[in-house]
Amino acid sequence: MAMLQYRVQGMSTGLFGDVRVGGAKNSVLPILAAVCLNDGESVIHNCPRIADTFVSMEILQKIGCVPKLLGDTLVVNTKGLAATAVPDDCVRKMRSSILFMGAMLARAGQVELTLPGGCELGTRAIDLHLMGLSAMGADIKIDGDKICCKAGRLVGANIKLHTASVGATENIMIAAVKAHGETVIENAACEPEIVDLADFLIGMGAKIHGAGTSRVVISGVNRLYNPVPHVIMPDRIVAGTYLVAAAMTGGDITVTDVNPTDLLPVLAKLIEMGCRIKVSDGNISLRAPKRLAACPRIITKVHPGFPTDMQAQFVAALAVAEGKSLVTETVFDKRHQHAAELNRMGAKISLCTDNRNFTIQGVENLRGATVAAKDLRGGAALVLAGLVAKGETVVQNAGYIQRGYESIERDLESLGAKISLEGAEQEEKCA
Ligand code: UD1
Repeated sequence: MAMLQYRVQGMSTGLFGDVRVGGAKNSVLPILAAVCLNDGESVIHNCPRIADTFVSMEILQKIGCVPKLLGDTLVVNTKGLAATAVPDDCVRKMRSSILFMGAMLARAGQVELTLPGGCELGTRAIDLHLMGLSAMGADIKIDGDKICCKAGRLVGANIKLHTASVGATENIMIAAVKAHGETVIENAACEPEIVDLADFLIGMGAKIHGAGTSRVVISGVNRLYNPVPHVIMPDRIVAGTYLVAAAMTGGDITVTDVNPTDLLPVLAKLIEMGCRIKVSDGNISLRAPKRLAACPRIITKVHPGFPTDMQAQFVAALAVAEGKSLVTETVFDKRHQHAAELNRMGAKISLCTDNRNFTIQGVENLRGATVAAKDLRGGAALVLAGLVAKGETVVQNAGYIQRGYESIERDLESLGAKISLEGAEQEEKCA
């Protein structure tokens, strides 16, 4: 099968102009699972046309629903939902298929799926998803790599998460909407995408309080109705990625249609690195310095801390900043593979044996090379590095990047970059 890859030319000028940011991947995925709760039609606007959206649509189709995407509006009819198994190939393609568990259990009283395999970011346990659902009365059996859950009507429960997991918070929230009684999630994750999911659920009649705080209370309801049309929130990580690209290239850009408050920890670091930031309603403008300054310390944390999904892009930027930086990844235990690839381009990044601490000695120039994306954000970081490297960079495994960026090549090109996607036609023929 042909391999998708980006070919990126190093730039001598900075990125300039405006770029619009679409709907958030991490918001649309739980919402596309939550539609299953309802027995009717959901209308979702600002839906990003990313690979993970298409995997979610494939799941919906295979379980008997009818999803139709026109432009960025997705209409899903869930009347025909009949199957109780999440298709294996989809679970393998996308770990967040696990979010269908709570929704299908609540709707059909039964769900089977394969354990999502070891992922590129390290051990990504699902114990909290299983613990939450079983506390609500689900009978969960694991046989080899198959999970089988059964339940009558779920019952509300007090659930304390040992880690503020985004996915577990969402899965439990979705399952609790139609449960009997009240569910309280303690140490819930507070990411803005959880608030977006709650808004969507409330729009179909759910009773949820505290989404976006560490204590979420869901009072189960007997009936849901067709949700009010929902607009997916802007993707703060895509916005952050383009801001970092502008910062690295010495550019001057405005990202439009974003929620600046969702990006505060990212903007704070960009300012620390010497960028001038202006925020107006829904827009963020960035003007980069001639050369970025190093950042003594970045530590990834759960929201509202510095997002782990921006760690790789900052590591790439700090690789060309003046001075030494230290970046610590605390959320995932193997989110480091971009470091070795960046080093192939001349970066000086050393990684502690714990795979969590990066010491970055900024260099003046990176050099173009053939590198491989190992995960979504790490792949985006390599594209950014390619923009400032001398000569040409080829980023292999572009499919990872397409999971979360509708068209990174279209967006960066519109800001003046020279980047192209190769292998797409052959790939389509093979499919
Ligand atoms: C979501 C985001 C992903 C982001 C991550 C952290 C989606 C679709 N993906 O992933 O982009 O990087 O949040 O912000 O929204 N954990 C457990 N037990 C569990 C579940 C998780 O120990 O049952 C641990 C994980 O191993 C990890 C940490 O919790 O170390 C955070 O994971 P989690 O917040 O669940 O991430 P995801 O929901 O998978």
